[in-house]
Amino acid sequence: MAGGFDSGSTLLAWLLLASLLVASVTAEPPEEEKQALLSFLSQVPHENRLQWSSNNNSSVCSWVGIECDADRSSVHSLRLPGAGLVGPIPPETLGRLSQLRVLSLRSNRLSGEIPSDFSNLTLLRSLYLQNNAFSGGFPAGVTPLARLARLDLSSNNFTGPIPFAVNNWTRLTGLFLENNAFSGPLPSISANLVDFNASNNRLNGSIPRNLQRFSAAAFAGNLGLCGGPLPPCNPFFPPPSPSPSTIQPIHKKSKKLSTAAIVLISVGAVLALLILLLLLFCCLRRKQRQQQQQQSPKPPKPVPGAAARSVPVDAAGTSSSKDDITGGSADAERNKLVFFDGGVYSFDLEDLLRASAEVLGKGSVGTSYKAVLEDGTTVVVKRLKDVVVTKKEFEMQMEVLGKVRHDNVVPFRAFYFSRDEKLLVSEYVAAGSLSALLHGSRGSGRTPLDWNSRMSIASTTAKGLAHLHSAGKLPHGNIKSSNILLLHAHHHEASVSDYGLNPLFGTTAPPSRVAGYRAPEVLETRKVTFKSDVYSFGVLLLELLTGKAPNQASLGAGDESAAGIDLPRWVQSVVREEWTAEVFDVELMRHNNVEEEMVQLLQIAMACVATVPDQRPEMAEVVRMIDEVNRGEVSTPTTTTDDGLRQSSDDPSKGSDGQTQTPPAESRATPGSASAVTP
Ligand SMILES: *[C@@H]1O[C@H](CO)[C@@H](O)[C@H](O)[C@H]1NC(C)=O
Ligand SMILES: *[C@@H]1O[C@H](CO)[C@@H](O)[C@H](O)[C@H]1NC(C)=O
Ligand SMILES: *[C@@H]1O[C@H](CO)[C@@H](O)[C@H](O)[C@H]1NC(C)=O
Ligand SMILES: *[C@@H]1O[C@H](CO)[C@@H](O)[C@H](O)[C@H]1NC(C)=O
Ligand SMILES: *[C@@H]1O[C@H](CO)[C@@H](O)[C@H](O)[C@H]1NC(C)=O
Ligand SMILES: *[C@@H]1O[C@H](CO)[C@@H](O)[C@H](O)[C@H]1NC(C)=O
Ligand SMILES: *[C@@H]1O[C@H](CO)[C@@H](O)[C@H](O)[C@H]1NC(C)=O
Repeated sequence: MAGGFDSGSTLLAWLLLASLLVASVTAEPPEEEKQALLSFLSQVPHENRLQWSSNNNSSVCSWVGIECDADRSSVHSLRLPGAGLVGPIPPETLGRLSQLRVLSLRSNRLSGEIPSDFSNLTLLRSLYLQNNAFSGGFPAGVTPLARLARLDLSSNNFTGPIPFAVNNWTRLTGLFLENNAFSGPLPSISANLVDFNASNNRLNGSIPRNLQRFSAAAFAGNLGLCGGPLPPCNPFFPPPSPSPSTIQPIHKKSKKLSTAAIVLISVGAVLALLILLLLLFCCLRRKQRQQQQQQSPKPPKPVPGAAARSVPVDAAGTSSSKDDITGGSADAERNKLVFFDGGVYSFDLEDLLRASAEVLGKGSVGTSYKAVLEDGTTVVVKRLKDVVVTKKEFEMQMEVLGKVRHDNVVPFRAFYFSRDEKLLVSEYVAAGSLSALLHGSRGSGRTPLDWNSRMSIASTTAKGLAHLHSAGKLPHGNIKSSNILLLHAHHHEASVSDYGLNPLFGTTAPPSRVAGYRAPEVLETRKVTFKSDVYSFGVLLLELLTGKAPNQASLGAGDESAAGIDLPRWVQSVVREEWTAEVFDVELMRHNNVEEEMVQLLQIAMACVATVPDQRPEMAEVVRMIDEVNRGEVSTPTTTTDDGLRQSSDDPSKGSDGQTQTPPAESRATPGSASAVTP
């Protein structure tokens, strides 16, 4: 009825319309497109105001959000921003609008993947899908759309890499990818790009050259991206550009005259002689003489500066060869890596820069990298943060560290100090840390660390520490199992690393560093001492004995968040209950005949973790006591916990003795070899 009324009484209106549209009333987009649109809308929940309808014979071109081309023969644009669309775009719907130039579905609640039949929208120029909840990889159906000029995928849940095929979008002027979870590297994208944003994704790698012109805000929030407007790519180094720090060689020139002066003086003397001769021969050669004088400043150039300064800090006279290594090149000014004496390395900053690096660990004083140089040399580079001391103080501490030489101490090899970077290079010990050995992949087919190995580690670690204390007069300050490195995969000889760095950080940072190992008094005094080292070492012994990590977080990054157990208190409480055997690592209970040694080592450990610093033994004494245990001699350190350490006879470990058939002789054989290392 309504239809009949319309057609009959609005003839005038129709005439008007017809005159306006020039007989194009009957021209309609193909039924295919109408059906595609209706199919889309019927499958996608939406707000009611989108009243597209098949029994409403108004033209498709007048539907909300739709624009047709000039002769109304096809749908050119579909814009439904904020239309309350919810859920995935059904396939075989929008992909059939083959003449579409503009598609905007922004600010809805569309989700799921973009249908692959979008690849049929070959004429599409603008695609706006931002502010939805689309997920999945970079839409494969969009990649082939070679005519795209604007693409906005921002604020969705897209993941995965951005395909290199986007290079093919030669007409692209705007690309918005921000606020997704795209990962991997950024491909280089059309040079015509005017607007670009890839911030807040998980992209990594270096920013391609043709995108470097965009501001840092276009890349922010991608922790792995580097280069261009962002900090340079090398994990531990700014590129050695002529930056503020290159001024240094100039004032170094005056400092370092000792060797250079001799060269200068001799060269000067020869020149002077020549000049005299020349003067005698002919006054007209004055010009020549001046030329030679001008040449004379040239030789000293490679001599002073970084080259001479990078002589080992402990000032031994044997360093001439290293001068060549570190400073002989034309890059001498940039090359300020200072090597300690006795090093075997021949690389420079440039090499370190090019090295492939892998993060070994993040600590509160900085990040450690394993750097593999191009020639295969592997070193550990520690990038120190929050260094508070001046360059001079830093160098003085380095001088102390550089002198330490002991089989059970991992040597530092070189350092670098500039305003922005403080690096410490040390040897790379391949066999891993005690922490990894003790706590890594427990139970999953790993070889348990046997008693003799643990004794050997305890003994060699103690020796390394004792050497630091006696010869170096240097508290370690950061004893924890991840800083105890194993020298060989099989002979369990340990080496201590990461020592003597506390003075570089002032008094605020250090005490919080090694929560589980920290002596109680350090919390107040904020100073590490020999005695606080002894405490930490005691905790380390308890860790060896119990197999428990005093600070679970010591394997990871944050030390403060550590919810580790207080090993000394835990052991004390268990021992007080006369359950001594309960404290030992279950992996040790498979061995027979070592309980006595275990109890002895436990006594030494408990002596070390005495609350009052003065009651703790000296490190040298600890070495002696451990070696006595090794030799099977009975040593009874004076401890307050003596009584509790007696094993009760109904000890569960004793009971199992009879059943287990481990050959006892084997485990007794090796302690001699460990004590053979004794100096
Ligand atoms: C609209 O539909 C009615 C019947 O539903 C039909 O009579 C009429 O001709 C249609 N008008 C146009 C312009 O197609
Ligand atoms: C089409 O139908 C809707 C209701 O379904 C109505 O509101 C609208 O006015 C109709 N359009 C025309 C041109 O008749
Ligand atoms: C694209 O269109 C062609 C015909 O134009 C059709 O055969 C094909 O199935 C369509 N592709 C998709 C993915 O829908
Ligand atoms: C998509 O992102 C929203 C937050 O924007 C989040 O709540 C949701 O879990 C994400 N969905 C998927 C599948 O990642
Ligand atoms: C880029 O486009 C060319 C042709 O225009 C095509 O041959 C090539 O496969 C495309 N590259 C990618 C990665 O799609
Ligand atoms: C980027 O991250 C992936 C894994 O997330 C990694 O495999 C790749 O090596 C990283 N690339 C760079 C250059 O860091
Ligand atoms: C990129 O997007 C982020 C997040 O929306 C915004 O903060 C930043 O200003 C944008 N950068 C540019 C260059 O538009």
